Amino acid sequence: MKDLTLGLVGVGRIGAMHADNISALNGVLNAEDINVRLRLTDVAEEHARAVAARVGAEFLPSVEALLASGLDGLVIATGTGTHPGLIKAGVDAGIPVFCEKPVALDVADALPVLEYVRERQGVVQIGHQRRFDPGYLEARRAYQAGELGWIHSLRAVTCDMAPPPVEFLAGSGGLFRDCSVHDFDILRWLTGREIVEAYAKGSNNGDPAIGAVGDVDTALALVTFDDGTVGTVSATRYNGAGHDVRLEIQGSRGSLLVGLDDRTALASAEAGVAFPAGQPHQTFAERFDAAYRAEMAAFVELILGLRDNPCTPEDAVAASRVADAAQESLRSGSPVRVELDPAVAG
Ligand SMILES: NC(=O)c1ccc[n+]([C@@H]2O[C@H](COP(=O)([O-])OP(=O)(O)OC[C@H]3O[C@@H](n4cnc5c(N)ncnc54)[C@H](O)[C@@H]3O)[C@@H](O)[C@H]2O)c1
Repeated sequence: MKDLTLGLVGVGRIGAMHADNISALNGVLNAEDINVRLRLTDVAEEHARAVAARVGAEFLPSVEALLASGLDGLVIATGTGTHPGLIKAGVDAGIPVFCEKPVALDVADALPVLEYVRERQGVVQIGHQRRFDPGYLEARRAYQAGELGWIHSLRAVTCDMAPPPVEFLAGSGGLFRDCSVHDFDILRWLTGREIVEAYAKGSNNGDPAIGAVGDVDTALALVTFDDGTVGTVSATRYNGAGHDVRLEIQGSRGSLLVGLDDRTALASAEAGVAFPAGQPHQTFAERFDAAYRAEMAAFVELILGLRDNPCTPEDAVAASRVADAAQESLRSGSPVRVELDPAVAG
């Protein structure tokens, strides 16, 4: 039996879920002779102690204590602004790092992190969990096999039921960087193409406090790919029908819709149509439960050298480049070219 100890920093909305998933890993890992143990920390000590007790983890009082305790991997699930420093601390400790998306608040802050990781040959996986979602995986397979013909339209949708706390939004980088970055990542990953331009509009008809911290509660970006294909990426914090994440791909031979099942948060306006009949998803944790579990299992396999990195910091920053362009377009009101990585732009 091989013992593996993971450290987790940050047990808020998503970190607490990762704590649950890590503590359940032993049941899902392919290599049955692995025993994963968890140590965790959070500046909100009382809450962290409660999470630790719930999942059978050990609480440690600081990131320093966590890293000094001898870990095999570090999982970072703190607010976005803290990611660069914590990624570097993990790399300095000489262990593989899993960090929630995005790498940093914007691309300018992320580039020095990429360089730091590269120079030290660090291993860092970024948490774009949709890459593990069965629907997106099937859509990628069908797209890349050419089963849909040539693609004329891509429409990505990400809707939260209710906004996170305004304090979180104030430090999130904005709706495109925080939320739609998942769609930008999945569109690049699925199509194998670069998005070269974003033209965004947004609105604030919900809590005025969201506008007061410089964010919008709803937005849509028209994106153009490097072959001229167009798509839309829309997001809102106020989707009363449920947590709704979909991708519609329409081609010359066929169409495919990721996220269309009995739990899709939509109702038909047509008479006699009962579909979808199930209870809509309420949260991202429900919608992507299987994907979050699979990405954490992948991180353990990455630590053990059993697989390639499923989402590198470079991948994540490529998505953030589109998010930055969309945020800038939202501000300026004009279409904005995506500043592609010079290595990609040629
Ligand atoms: N992949 C996804 O689907 C997804 C979903 C939600 C959030 N996220 C990302 O996860 C990150 C966290 O988001 P959240 O919604 O869980 O935020 P949150 O505010 O609910 O939780 C963050 C936690 O980190 C703790 N923390 C902050 N700084 C710390 C530090 N220096 N040391 C120790 N603890 C610290 C806070 O006390 C809090 O408990 C964000 O970067 C966000 O973009 C990803």
